[in-house]
Amino acid sequence: EMSEVDEPPKIRQREGLRLLRRIGVVDPESLDDYRATGGYTALRTALLLGPAGVIREVTDSGLMGRGGAAFPTGRKWDATARQPVSPHYLVCNADESEPGTFKDRVLIEGDPFALIESMTIAAFATGASKGYIYLRGEYPRAFRLLRGAIEKAREFGYLGTDIMGHTGFRFDIEIRRGAGAYICGEETAIFNSIEGYRGEPRTKPPFPVEKGLFGKPTVVNNVETLVNVPLILTEGCEAYRRIGTERSTGTKLFCLSGNVREPGVYEVPFGVTLGELLDLAGGVPGELKAVLLGGAAGGFVRPDELDLRLTMEDAREAGTTLGSGVVLALDDQADVGAFLLRIAAFFRDESCGQCVPCRIGTVRQEEALHRIVGGRRLGDDLTVLRDVGQVMRDSSICGLGQTAWNAIESAIDRLGLLKEKP
Ligand code: NAI
Ligand code: SF4
Repeated sequence: EMSEVDEPPKIRQREGLRLLRRIGVVDPESLDDYRATGGYTALRTALLLGPAGVIREVTDSGLMGRGGAAFPTGRKWDATARQPVSPHYLVCNADESEPGTFKDRVLIEGDPFALIESMTIAAFATGASKGYIYLRGEYPRAFRLLRGAIEKAREFGYLGTDIMGHTGFRFDIEIRRGAGAYICGEETAIFNSIEGYRGEPRTKPPFPVEKGLFGKPTVVNNVETLVNVPLILTEGCEAYRRIGTERSTGTKLFCLSGNVREPGVYEVPFGVTLGELLDLAGGVPGELKAVLLGGAAGGFVRPDELDLRLTMEDAREAGTTLGSGVVLALDDQADVGAFLLRIAAFFRDESCGQCVPCRIGTVRQEEALHRIVGGRRLGDDLTVLRDVGQVMRDSSICGLGQTAWNAIESAIDRLGLLKEKP
Protein backbone atom coordinates (compact mmCIF):
# COMPACT_ATOMS: atom_id res chain seq x y z
CA GLU A 1 0.00 0.00 0.00
CA MET A 2 1.47 3.32 -1.12
CA SER A 3 1.55 6.11 1.44
CA GLU A 4 -0.12 9.33 0.34
CA VAL A 5 1.05 12.72 1.52
CA ASP A 6 -1.48 15.47 0.95
CA GLU A 7 -0.74 18.73 2.69
CA PRO A 8 0.01 22.06 1.00
CA PRO A 9 3.68 23.04 1.07
CA LYS A 10 4.96 25.69 3.46
CA ILE A 11 7.85 28.04 2.80
CA ARG A 12 9.28 29.81 5.85
CA GLN A 13 11.82 31.93 4.00
CA ARG A 14 10.59 35.13 2.30
CA GLU A 15 13.83 36.91 1.35
CA GLY A 16 15.89 36.21 -1.76
CA LEU A 17 13.39 33.92 -3.42
CA ARG A 18 13.58 33.42 -7.17
CA LEU A 19 12.38 29.93 -8.05
CA LEU A 20 10.14 29.94 -5.00
CA ARG A 21 8.85 33.50 -5.37
CA ARG A 22 5.27 32.53 -6.21
CA ILE A 23 4.96 29.68 -3.68
CA GLY A 24 2.29 30.49 -1.14
CA VAL A 25 1.74 33.87 -2.81
CA VAL A 26 -0.31 33.00 -5.89
CA ASP A 27 -3.28 30.66 -6.18
CA PRO A 28 -1.70 27.65 -7.93
CA GLU A 29 -4.97 27.02 -9.79
CA SER A 30 -5.16 30.52 -11.23
CA LEU A 31 -3.74 31.22 -14.68
CA ASP A 32 -4.60 34.90 -14.12
CA ASP A 33 -2.40 34.98 -11.00
CA TYR A 34 0.37 33.35 -12.98
CA ARG A 35 0.14 35.88 -15.80
CA ALA A 36 -0.14 38.79 -13.39
CA THR A 37 3.20 37.75 -11.83
CA GLY A 38 5.16 37.58 -15.09
CA GLY A 39 3.91 34.23 -16.33
CA TYR A 40 4.27 33.54 -20.07
CA THR A 41 6.53 36.53 -20.78
CA ALA A 42 9.47 34.10 -21.06
CA LEU A 43 7.69 31.96 -23.64
CA ARG A 44 6.95 35.10 -25.64
CA THR A 45 10.66 35.98 -25.51
CA ALA A 46 11.57 32.43 -26.53
CA LEU A 47 9.33 32.59 -29.60
CA LEU A 48 11.11 35.81 -30.64
CA LEU A 49 14.60 34.40 -30.01
CA GLY A 50 13.96 31.20 -31.97
CA PRO A 51 15.15 27.71 -30.92
CA ALA A 52 18.87 28.37 -31.49
CA GLY A 53 18.66 31.67 -29.59
CA VAL A 54 17.01 29.99 -26.60
CA ILE A 55 19.66 27.25 -26.52
CA ARG A 56 22.39 29.89 -26.67
CA GLU A 57 20.91 31.76 -23.68
CA VAL A 58 20.53 28.56 -21.64
CA THR A 59 24.07 27.42 -22.51
CA ASP A 60 25.58 30.82 -21.68
CA SER A 61 23.67 30.97 -18.40
CA GLY A 62 25.75 28.05 -17.15
CA LEU A 63 22.61 26.22 -15.97
CA MET A 64 23.36 22.68 -14.78
CA GLY A 65 20.87 19.91 -14.00
CA ARG A 66 19.27 20.04 -10.56
CA GLY A 67 18.16 16.39 -10.35
CA GLY A 68 21.54 15.44 -8.92
CA ALA A 69 24.12 14.95 -11.66
CA ALA A 70 24.67 18.61 -12.67
CA PHE A 71 25.00 17.98 -16.41
CA PRO A 72 25.04 21.23 -18.47
CA THR A 73 21.46 21.81 -19.65
CA GLY A 74 22.39 23.77 -22.77
CA ARG A 75 24.59 20.92 -23.99
CA LYS A 76 21.76 18.44 -23.49
CA TRP A 77 19.29 20.62 -25.38
CA ASP A 78 21.72 21.32 -28.20
CA ALA A 79 22.57 17.63 -28.64
CA THR A 80 18.86 16.78 -28.95
CA ALA A 81 17.99 19.69 -31.21
CA ARG A 82 20.68 18.52 -33.67
CA GLN A 83 19.31 14.98 -34.09
CA PRO A 84 17.90 14.58 -37.59
CA VAL A 85 15.40 11.86 -36.55
CA SER A 86 11.86 12.85 -35.58
CA PRO A 87 9.88 13.10 -33.41
CA HIS A 88 11.80 14.45 -30.43
CA TYR A 89 10.43 14.00 -26.92
CA LEU A 90 10.69 15.95 -23.71
CA VAL A 91 10.44 14.21 -20.35
CA CYS A 92 10.20 16.09 -17.10
CA ASN A 93 11.54 13.92 -14.33
CA ALA A 94 9.21 14.61 -11.41
CA ASP A 95 9.66 11.22 -9.78
CA GLU A 96 11.44 12.86 -6.86
CA SER A 97 12.18 9.89 -4.60
CA GLU A 98 15.65 10.46 -3.19
CA PRO A 99 15.32 10.15 0.61
CA GLY A 100 15.21 13.66 2.07
CA THR A 101 14.24 15.31 -1.22
CA PHE A 102 10.99 17.28 -1.45
CA LYS A 103 11.76 20.46 -3.44
CA ASP A 104 10.11 19.50 -6.74
CA ARG A 105 6.88 18.77 -4.92
CA VAL A 106 6.90 22.31 -3.50
CA LEU A 107 7.52 23.79 -6.97
CA ILE A 108 4.74 21.78 -8.61
CA GLU A 109 2.17 22.28 -5.88
CA GLY A 110 2.85 25.97 -5.44
CA ASP A 111 3.49 27.05 -9.04
CA PRO A 112 2.36 24.41 -11.56
CA PHE A 113 2.03 26.83 -14.51
CA ALA A 114 5.74 27.67 -14.20
CA LEU A 115 6.61 24.06 -14.96
CA ILE A 116 4.22 23.98 -17.91
CA GLU A 117 5.62 27.20 -19.38
CA SER A 118 9.20 25.99 -18.82
CA MET A 119 8.48 22.69 -20.57
CA THR A 120 6.90 24.53 -23.48
CA ILE A 121 10.06 26.62 -23.88
CA ALA A 122 12.24 23.48 -23.68
CA ALA A 123 10.08 21.80 -26.32
CA PHE A 124 10.28 24.82 -28.61
CA ALA A 125 14.07 24.90 -28.30
CA THR A 126 14.66 21.18 -28.84
CA GLY A 127 11.96 20.44 -31.41
CA ALA A 128 9.81 18.22 -29.17
CA SER A 129 6.12 18.03 -29.96
CA LYS A 130 5.18 15.83 -27.02
CA GLY A 131 6.14 16.11 -23.38
CA TYR A 132 5.65 13.75 -20.48
CA ILE A 133 5.74 14.59 -16.81
CA TYR A 134 6.76 11.45 -14.94
CA LEU A 135 5.29 12.22 -11.54
CA ARG A 136 5.98 10.48 -8.27
CA GLY A 137 2.90 8.36 -7.42
CA GLU A 138 2.85 9.52 -3.80
CA TYR A 139 2.15 13.13 -4.83
CA PRO A 140 -1.65 13.14 -5.33
CA ARG A 141 -2.03 16.86 -4.73
CA ALA A 142 0.69 17.67 -7.29
CA PHE A 143 -1.14 15.42 -9.75
CA ARG A 144 -4.48 17.17 -9.30
CA LEU A 145 -2.99 20.64 -9.59
CA LEU A 146 -0.86 19.78 -12.62
CA ARG A 147 -3.74 18.09 -14.42
CA GLY A 148 -5.92 21.15 -13.85
CA ALA A 149 -3.19 23.55 -14.93
CA ILE A 150 -2.48 21.59 -18.14
CA GLU A 151 -6.19 21.67 -19.04
CA LYS A 152 -6.33 25.40 -18.42
CA ALA A 153 -3.16 26.08 -20.42
CA ARG A 154 -4.64 24.09 -23.30
CA GLU A 155 -7.91 26.01 -23.12
CA PHE A 156 -6.09 29.36 -23.38
CA GLY A 157 -3.80 28.38 -26.26
CA TYR A 158 -0.62 27.86 -24.23
CA LEU A 159 -0.56 24.18 -25.21
CA GLY A 160 -1.79 22.54 -28.39
CA THR A 161 -1.31 23.90 -31.90
CA ASP A 162 -0.01 27.35 -32.93
CA ILE A 163 0.90 28.14 -29.32
CA MET A 164 0.63 31.87 -28.49
CA GLY A 165 -0.15 32.49 -32.14
CA HIS A 166 3.18 31.05 -33.30
CA THR A 167 2.15 29.25 -36.49
CA GLY A 168 3.38 25.67 -36.66
CA PHE A 169 4.49 25.38 -33.03
CA ARG A 170 2.69 22.38 -31.58
CA PHE A 171 3.25 20.91 -28.14
CA ASP A 172 1.26 19.06 -25.51
CA ILE A 173 1.91 17.42 -22.16
CA GLU A 174 0.78 14.12 -20.65
CA ILE A 175 1.26 13.14 -17.02
CA ARG A 176 2.38 9.61 -16.15
CA ARG A 177 2.31 8.58 -12.52
CA GLY A 178 4.88 6.30 -10.93
CA ALA A 179 3.78 3.45 -8.69
CA GLY A 180 6.19 3.73 -5.79
CA ALA A 181 9.43 2.33 -7.24
CA TYR A 182 12.52 4.45 -6.58
CA ILE A 183 14.29 3.04 -9.64
CA CYS A 184 11.62 4.46 -11.95
CA GLY A 185 13.19 7.89 -11.41
CA GLU A 186 16.28 6.75 -13.34
CA GLU A 187 15.83 8.38 -16.73
CA THR A 188 15.98 5.26 -18.89
CA ALA A 189 13.74 3.34 -16.46
CA ILE A 190 11.23 6.17 -17.00
CA PHE A 191 11.32 5.43 -20.73
CA ASN A 192 10.61 1.75 -20.12
CA SER A 193 7.83 2.62 -17.69
CA ILE A 194 6.16 5.03 -20.14
CA GLU A 195 6.50 2.50 -22.96
CA GLY A 196 4.71 -0.08 -20.82
CA TYR A 197 7.65 -2.26 -19.86
CA ARG A 198 9.11 -3.03 -16.43
CA GLY A 199 10.73 0.06 -14.98
CA GLU A 200 14.32 -1.13 -15.35
CA PRO A 201 17.25 1.05 -16.44
CA ARG A 202 18.83 0.61 -19.85
CA THR A 203 22.58 0.76 -20.35
CA LYS A 204 24.04 4.15 -21.32
CA PRO A 205 25.35 5.05 -23.87
CA PRO A 206 23.42 5.54 -26.07
CA PHE A 207 22.33 8.62 -24.12
CA PRO A 208 18.70 9.76 -24.24
CA VAL A 209 19.61 12.82 -26.32
CA GLU A 210 20.25 10.34 -29.13
CA LYS A 211 18.04 7.33 -28.32
CA GLY A 212 15.52 7.92 -25.58
CA LEU A 213 11.79 7.47 -25.28
CA PHE A 214 10.49 5.09 -28.00
CA GLY A 215 14.09 5.09 -29.29
CA LYS A 216 13.84 8.77 -30.30
CA PRO A 217 15.98 11.77 -29.27
CA THR A 218 14.76 12.84 -25.83
CA VAL A 219 15.55 15.59 -23.37
CA VAL A 220 15.10 14.59 -19.73
CA ASN A 221 15.15 17.45 -17.25
CA ASN A 222 14.36 17.68 -13.56
CA VAL A 223 11.55 20.03 -12.42
CA GLU A 224 13.88 22.48 -10.69
CA THR A 225 16.19 22.62 -13.71
CA LEU A 226 13.30 23.55 -15.99
CA VAL A 227 11.87 26.33 -13.84
CA ASN A 228 15.20 28.17 -14.04
CA VAL A 229 14.67 28.70 -17.76
CA PRO A 230 12.00 31.46 -17.63
CA LEU A 231 14.29 33.45 -15.31
CA ILE A 232 17.20 33.10 -17.74
CA LEU A 233 15.10 34.29 -20.67
CA THR A 234 13.40 37.20 -18.94
CA GLU A 235 16.46 38.68 -17.24
CA GLY A 236 19.08 37.48 -19.77
CA CYS A 237 21.92 35.04 -19.23
CA GLU A 238 24.34 37.75 -18.08
CA ALA A 239 22.12 38.85 -15.19
CA TYR A 240 21.39 35.22 -14.35
CA ARG A 241 25.11 34.43 -14.11
CA ARG A 242 25.66 37.22 -11.62
CA ILE A 243 23.97 35.10 -8.95
CA GLY A 244 25.95 32.20 -7.53
CA THR A 245 29.60 31.50 -8.31
CA GLU A 246 31.45 31.48 -11.59
CA ARG A 247 31.08 27.75 -12.13
CA SER A 248 27.84 27.14 -10.21
CA THR A 249 25.44 29.78 -11.45
CA GLY A 250 22.07 30.76 -10.06
CA THR A 251 20.31 29.60 -6.92
CA LYS A 252 19.76 26.12 -5.55
CA LEU A 253 16.89 24.64 -3.59
CA PHE A 254 17.96 22.70 -0.51
CA CYS A 255 15.79 20.33 1.49
CA LEU A 256 16.62 20.65 5.17
CA SER A 257 15.62 17.74 7.35
CA GLY A 258 16.69 15.70 10.34
CA ASN A 259 17.79 17.55 13.46
CA VAL A 260 17.17 21.15 12.36
CA ARG A 261 14.76 23.50 14.10
CA GLU A 262 12.82 24.57 11.00
CA PRO A 263 12.92 21.82 8.38
CA GLY A 264 11.74 22.66 4.88
CA VAL A 265 12.81 23.90 1.46
CA TYR A 266 15.21 26.86 1.29
CA GLU A 267 16.57 28.73 -1.73
CA VAL A 268 20.08 30.21 -1.64
CA PRO A 269 22.64 31.32 -4.21
CA PHE A 270 25.39 28.77 -4.86
CA GLY A 271 28.39 29.65 -2.69
CA VAL A 272 26.56 30.09 0.62
CA THR A 273 28.23 27.93 3.27
CA LEU A 274 26.67 24.87 4.84
CA GLY A 275 26.76 26.60 8.23
CA GLU A 276 24.86 29.63 6.88
CA LEU A 277 22.24 27.34 5.37
CA LEU A 278 21.76 25.46 8.65
CA ASP A 279 21.37 28.81 10.42
CA LEU A 280 18.67 29.80 7.93
CA ALA A 281 16.77 26.71 9.12
CA GLY A 282 17.09 27.76 12.75
CA GLY A 283 20.21 25.71 13.48
CA VAL A 284 20.61 22.33 15.10
CA PRO A 285 19.03 21.84 18.54
CA GLY A 286 21.65 19.48 19.98
CA GLU A 287 25.34 19.08 19.29
CA LEU A 288 25.88 18.46 15.58
CA LYS A 289 27.38 15.08 14.75
CA ALA A 290 27.31 15.10 10.95
CA VAL A 291 25.38 16.34 7.93
CA LEU A 292 24.44 14.00 5.12
CA LEU A 293 24.80 16.06 1.98
CA GLY A 294 23.39 15.09 -1.41
CA GLY A 295 21.21 12.18 -0.37
CA ALA A 296 21.67 8.48 0.23
CA ALA A 297 24.18 8.47 -2.63
CA GLY A 298 25.99 11.49 -1.20
CA GLY A 299 28.37 11.76 1.72
CA PHE A 300 28.82 13.06 5.25
CA VAL A 301 30.23 16.43 6.24
CA ARG A 302 31.70 16.84 9.72
CA PRO A 303 30.86 19.62 12.22
CA ASP A 304 34.35 21.10 11.67
CA GLU A 305 33.60 21.53 7.95
CA LEU A 306 30.57 23.82 8.11
CA ASP A 307 32.40 26.51 6.14
CA LEU A 308 32.06 24.26 3.08
CA ARG A 309 30.80 26.44 0.24
CA LEU A 310 27.75 24.92 -1.37
CA THR A 311 28.79 24.73 -5.01
CA MET A 312 29.03 21.75 -7.31
CA GLU A 313 32.82 22.02 -7.37
CA ASP A 314 33.42 22.50 -3.62
CA ALA A 315 31.14 19.55 -2.83
CA ARG A 316 33.03 17.33 -5.25
CA GLU A 317 36.33 18.36 -3.68
CA ALA A 318 34.98 17.52 -0.24
CA GLY A 319 34.22 13.98 -1.43
CA THR A 320 30.48 14.40 -1.71
CA THR A 321 27.90 15.99 -4.00
CA LEU A 322 25.05 18.46 -3.66
CA GLY A 323 22.98 15.78 -5.39
CA SER A 324 19.31 16.64 -5.29
CA GLY A 325 19.82 19.19 -2.48
CA VAL A 326 19.54 16.97 0.58
CA VAL A 327 20.87 18.49 3.80
CA LEU A 328 20.08 16.03 6.56
CA ALA A 329 21.47 16.98 9.96
CA LEU A 330 22.26 14.42 12.66
CA ASP A 331 22.84 15.63 16.21
CA ASP A 332 24.03 13.81 19.32
CA GLN A 333 20.57 12.28 19.76
CA ALA A 334 20.74 10.49 16.39
CA ASP A 335 21.62 6.81 16.14
CA VAL A 336 23.98 6.88 13.17
CA GLY A 337 24.31 3.08 13.05
CA ALA A 338 20.56 2.67 12.70
CA PHE A 339 20.54 5.47 10.14
CA LEU A 340 23.17 3.71 7.99
CA LEU A 341 21.28 0.44 8.28
CA ARG A 342 18.16 2.22 7.05
CA ILE A 343 20.06 3.44 3.99
CA ALA A 344 21.41 -0.06 3.30
CA ALA A 345 17.90 -1.52 3.63
CA PHE A 346 16.58 1.14 1.29
CA PHE A 347 19.02 0.26 -1.49
CA ARG A 348 18.44 -3.49 -0.98
CA ASP A 349 14.68 -2.88 -1.25
CA GLU A 350 14.85 -0.59 -4.27
CA SER A 351 17.44 -2.46 -6.38
CA CYS A 352 15.56 -3.56 -9.48
CA GLY A 353 17.54 -6.80 -9.51
CA GLN A 354 18.46 -6.60 -13.14
CA CYS A 355 22.23 -6.81 -12.66
CA VAL A 356 24.10 -9.12 -10.31
CA PRO A 357 26.53 -6.76 -8.52
CA CYS A 358 23.70 -4.58 -7.27
CA ARG A 359 21.11 -7.30 -6.69
CA ILE A 360 23.50 -9.40 -4.57
CA GLY A 361 25.76 -6.59 -3.39
CA THR A 362 23.03 -4.56 -1.71
CA VAL A 363 22.00 -7.69 0.25
CA ARG A 364 25.58 -8.53 1.29
CA GLN A 365 26.19 -4.90 2.24
CA GLU A 366 23.16 -4.81 4.51
CA GLU A 367 24.08 -8.15 6.13
CA ALA A 368 27.66 -7.10 6.91
CA LEU A 369 26.55 -3.71 8.18
CA HIS A 370 23.94 -5.40 10.35
CA ARG A 371 26.58 -7.57 11.97
CA ILE A 372 28.94 -4.63 12.50
CA VAL A 373 26.32 -2.30 13.94
CA GLY A 374 24.84 -5.07 16.07
CA GLY A 375 28.25 -5.92 17.58
CA ARG A 376 28.40 -9.34 15.93
CA ARG A 377 31.20 -8.47 13.54
CA LEU A 378 33.06 -11.26 11.78
CA GLY A 379 36.80 -10.64 11.41
CA ASP A 380 36.81 -9.25 7.88
CA ASP A 381 33.38 -7.61 7.68
CA LEU A 382 34.87 -4.20 6.99
CA THR A 383 36.78 -5.70 4.06
CA VAL A 384 33.58 -7.35 2.89
CA LEU A 385 31.87 -3.94 2.90
CA ARG A 386 34.70 -2.34 0.94
CA ASP A 387 34.98 -5.15 -1.61
CA VAL A 388 31.26 -5.38 -2.21
CA GLY A 389 31.01 -1.59 -2.40
CA GLN A 390 33.79 -1.35 -4.94
CA VAL A 391 32.30 -4.09 -7.14
CA MET A 392 28.91 -2.37 -7.08
CA ARG A 393 30.52 0.94 -7.98
CA ASP A 394 32.57 -0.51 -10.84
CA SER A 395 30.12 -2.88 -12.45
CA SER A 396 26.51 -1.84 -11.85
CA ILE A 397 24.43 -0.68 -14.79
CA CYS A 398 22.93 2.40 -13.19
CA GLY A 399 23.46 5.03 -10.52
CA LEU A 400 21.61 3.08 -7.83
CA GLY A 401 24.16 0.28 -7.69
CA GLN A 402 27.07 2.60 -8.46
CA THR A 403 26.34 4.78 -5.43
CA ALA A 404 24.75 2.33 -2.96
CA TRP A 405 27.95 2.24 -0.90
CA ASN A 406 28.71 5.98 -0.90
CA ALA A 407 27.14 7.01 2.40
CA ILE A 408 28.46 3.98 4.28
CA GLU A 409 31.97 4.45 2.90
CA SER A 410 31.80 8.09 3.85
CA ALA A 411 30.71 7.20 7.41
CA ILE A 412 33.76 4.96 7.73
CA ASP A 413 36.35 7.15 6.03
CA ARG A 414 35.14 10.66 6.82
CA LEU A 415 33.37 10.24 10.16
CA GLY A 416 35.66 7.46 11.36
CA LEU A 417 32.70 5.27 12.34
CA LEU A 418 32.42 1.45 12.36
CA LYS A 419 36.20 1.02 12.42
CA GLU A 420 36.70 -0.05 15.99
CA LYS A 421 35.66 -3.52 17.07
CA PRO A 422 33.30 -3.14 20.02
P1 NAI B 1 24.38 10.74 -15.21
O1 NAI B 1 25.64 11.42 -14.85
O2 NAI B 1 24.43 9.41 -15.87
O3 NAI B 1 23.57 11.67 -16.21
C1 NAI B 1 23.17 12.97 -15.96
C2 NAI B 1 22.41 13.48 -17.17
O4 NAI B 1 23.31 13.86 -18.19
C3 NAI B 1 21.50 12.45 -17.80
O5 NAI B 1 20.35 13.06 -18.27
C4 NAI B 1 22.33 11.89 -18.94
O6 NAI B 1 21.54 11.39 -19.99
C5 NAI B 1 23.07 13.12 -19.38
N1 NAI B 1 24.37 12.82 -19.99
C6 NAI B 1 25.47 12.34 -19.35
N2 NAI B 1 26.48 12.22 -20.22
C7 NAI B 1 26.03 12.64 -21.43
C8 NAI B 1 26.60 12.76 -22.73
N3 NAI B 1 27.87 12.43 -22.95
N4 NAI B 1 25.82 13.24 -23.72
C9 NAI B 1 24.55 13.60 -23.48
N5 NAI B 1 23.95 13.49 -22.28
C10 NAI B 1 24.68 13.03 -21.27
O7 NAI B 1 23.53 10.67 -13.88
P2 NAI B 1 22.10 10.06 -13.56
O8 NAI B 1 22.23 8.61 -13.28
O9 NAI B 1 21.11 10.49 -14.58
O10 NAI B 1 21.76 10.81 -12.21
C11 NAI B 1 22.47 10.55 -11.03
C12 NAI B 1 22.10 11.56 -9.98
O11 NAI B 1 20.73 11.48 -9.70
C13 NAI B 1 22.81 11.40 -8.66
O12 NAI B 1 23.63 12.52 -8.48
C14 NAI B 1 21.73 11.36 -7.61
O13 NAI B 1 21.99 12.25 -6.57
C15 NAI B 1 20.52 11.82 -8.36
N6 NAI B 1 19.28 11.21 -7.89
C16 NAI B 1 18.23 12.06 -7.70
C17 NAI B 1 17.02 11.58 -7.26
C18 NAI B 1 15.90 12.53 -7.02
O14 NAI B 1 14.88 12.12 -6.46
N7 NAI B 1 16.01 13.79 -7.43
C19 NAI B 1 16.82 10.15 -7.01
C20 NAI B 1 17.98 9.36 -7.26
C21 NAI B 1 19.18 9.88 -7.69
FE1 SF4 C 1 18.84 -2.41 -11.29
FE2 SF4 C 1 20.76 -2.06 -9.43
FE3 SF4 C 1 21.42 -2.78 -11.87
FE4 SF4 C 1 20.49 -0.32 -11.43
S1 SF4 C 1 22.41 -1.16 -10.67
S2 SF4 C 1 19.93 -1.68 -13.10
S3 SF4 C 1 18.99 -0.76 -9.80
S4 SF4 C 1 20.16 -3.99 -10.42
